[in-house]
Amino acid sequence: MRLVMLGPPGAGKGTQARMLGERIHAPQIASGDLLREAVRDQTPLGLQARSYMDKGSLVPDELVLKLIDARLDQADAKSGFILDGFPRSVPQAEALARMLKQRGETISQVIAIDAPDEELVKRISGRRTCRNCNEMYHMTFDPPAKPGICNKCGGELYQRDDDHEDTVRHRLQVYDNATKPLLDYYGKAGILSQVDGTGRPDEILDRILAKLPAVAN
Ligand code: AP5
Repeated sequence: MRLVMLGPPGAGKGTQARMLGERIHAPQIASGDLLREAVRDQTPLGLQARSYMDKGSLVPDELVLKLIDARLDQADAKSGFILDGFPRSVPQAEALARMLKQRGETISQVIAIDAPDEELVKRISGRRTCRNCNEMYHMTFDPPAKPGICNKCGGELYQRDDDHEDTVRHRLQVYDNATKPLLDYYGKAGILSQVDGTGRPDEILDRILAKLPAVAN
């Protein structure tokens, strides 16, 4: 299956893409993670992307498309994937359709997750991420066993630079202006499923699975 996870910052795209990926044996391809790796490794692309990310603005398409195109070429993406955080605008969705067409592929389904803004801000401000394996925690909802240490790999947990409240509010505006039109775009294409993103992560996963008839529960 080739899936797209849509939703505002903090909706749980990453959390659900990981859980669903384990369930259906498909890799999560997160544009934010790819960009943060490029920033961490100080690649030329990462150096260009950094200032946009720190402000909570979208990184220019030519940079993001290059990363996604290269990632889709990797062997584990050949039989399916879950895109998380990409596409984020109609031009990116059109570029994705072209990339897939060249490979003889199309998107199977788009899952749009949403939750109220105040819940999104609460989730993001409590998020901690492992520097080593990108595993996510929440200081209140899902804390690590040892403070500051990843349960999975023992890596150091950190707070993302763009997870401070004013930047989060800007990211929510960017979502409304640039990304929300994708609901209409994929709705018209007949491949959109909308899912309530409130409640426990396992409850939300069940809602997503119920929208994927091709997946055996
Ligand atoms: P990106 O990394 O994609 O961030 P985002 O879209 O803002 O999404 P988040 O990762 O903040 O939220 P999420 O929905 O994945 O929620 P999560 O599961 O982590 O992008 C960052 C930046 O990179 C952008 O601002 C932009 O600059 C750039 N960028 C990325 N892609 C781009 C693109 N395509 N084009 C241009 N620029 C791009 O959950 C959040 C927290 O809530 C966690 O702590 C989690 O544990 C907790 N949580 C999750 N679910 C629940 C639940 N059900 N109940 C309670 N807590 C929960």
